Amino acid sequence: MIKIIDRNWFVNYTSPNRYSLAGITDLVLDHSERLKKFKLTVIDVGCSTAVSLKELKKELNSKGIGTFTIGIDVDPKVKEMAEKNSDIFLNKDVLEVDNLYDVADVVICHKMALWVPANRRSCIISKSSQFLKLEGDLITDVDDYRQPSFLESLSNFYKYSWPPIHTLRYGIKNFRSEYKKKRDLKLRKDARIFYGRETSLKYAKQIISGWNKLAWDQKVSKKFDILCIMIQQKLFPSRPKN
Ligand SMILES: C[S@@+](CC[C@H](N)C(=O)[O-])C[C@H]1O[C@@H](n2cnc3c(N)ncnc32)[C@H](O)[C@@H]1O
Repeated sequence: MIKIIDRNWFVNYTSPNRYSLAGITDLVLDHSERLKKFKLTVIDVGCSTAVSLKELKKELNSKGIGTFTIGIDVDPKVKEMAEKNSDIFLNKDVLEVDNLYDVADVVICHKMALWVPANRRSCIISKSSQFLKLEGDLITDVDDYRQPSFLESLSNFYKYSWPPIHTLRYGIKNFRSEYKKKRDLKLRKDARIFYGRETSLKYAKQIISGWNKLAWDQKVSKKFDILCIMIQQKLFPSRPKN
């Protein structure tokens, strides 16, 4: 079972507004403002077609921030579009990229290592961190298996889960649009920023210790989740769009 699930996550859906919805654009703007840097190199690990990266570049440029973008994605299906949408595109497994150390002001690793086992998650975060300059920031939604308290879980369920009680308040007619707003809010909650290469590298280790602290049944349940996503994606595969 371990062998079957220890591979890349092959869901490759993305969208042009994904990084603004997820709050990533704001985090990159904060980075530029904080360090007073107005020329940035941004690496997007698992960029899919890089439409979201292209849109990010457009928004940064409109604010006077020159941006050089490097997209990395292992999926050959996204190659043609990703080459058009980024300044440099590497059609490779990120773990095999060995020529980008110490080059990035910002590395984004979003929705690409969620459904992979702890070791691979940690290696991906560690590799992404090595791309950073010393003062560079890592933006990621990959979590470290921290278990929320009962109260946190309850509040998260109310705020983000389906069926959102709050959304039902707006009536059937507005349900769709309100539900979409909720989903976007959830996306915003997940993206976190780690300041500096050292902090980001430490986070990679924290993922392993987070995993080791889980009880055996929690580990089985996480692996089962990965298996379910794999089966779901085999039956209903997502297609890259430009
Ligand atoms: C769901 S897309 C995310 C796209 C974009 N980052 C976003 O947030 O919308 C995940 C992408 O990660 C890529 N991926 C998964 N594992 C990878 C790896 N080890 N190296 C490079 N790309 C990888 C997949 O091919 C897929 O296109």
